[in-house]
Amino acid sequence: MSLKKVSKDQPANFEFNEKSLEKAKKIISNYPKGKQQSAVMALLYIAQRQNNNWIPLSAMKYIAKFLDMPYIKVYEVATFYTMYNLAPVGEHFFQVCTTTPCMIRGAYKLIEVCKNKISQNESEISSDGKISWMEVECLGACVNSPMMQINDDYFEDLDEKKLETIIENIRQNKKIEPGSYKGRKSSEPENNRITLMDIKNA
Ligand code: FES
Repeated sequence: MSLKKVSKDQPANFEFNEKSLEKAKKIISNYPKGKQQSAVMALLYIAQRQNNNWIPLSAMKYIAKFLDMPYIKVYEVATFYTMYNLAPVGEHFFQVCTTTPCMIRGAYKLIEVCKNKISQNESEISSDGKISWMEVECLGACVNSPMMQINDDYFEDLDEKKLETIIENIRQNKKIEPGSYKGRKSSEPENNRITLMDIKNA
């Protein structure tokens, strides 16, 4: 697991837009009076969604004021959890799982493709500004490994060729389809097997 760096280029100001403000108020209303600080993680996530998938320091300061809590506490939360991006990411943000099941099934071959086709180092945006990638821990789709998350969607049963095609399609502004790249529905067994005793289709 890599550590996320805080961006050196920071916008001076941040505030919630109308939609985010509405969402934030709704979340805070779920907590008893005086316990609004418990909403900090959700509000950081709202800020990230509003700000092209990353959280600037000014958003942490804004949230600290919003929740009446010390800025350092918001900073601690934002820098502890890896799902918060603290620097800009590509328009298509690849999170490549390299935990054991995905690793055994070729995750590091996918990392090589990312290095060669996107950027040599993780968390660097490709020269066309379209893609960035990083390694992450298990995303809970081990049965369909190796897999990665691109923005909000899972792309599963990948290999180098399939990933290269996905990257090519993004570069050509073509739609990319999430799901299994072996045509499996959800995590059903391969080759139409129905039970473990189904030897002929194994
Ligand atoms: S190990 Fe990759 S999804 Fe679980």
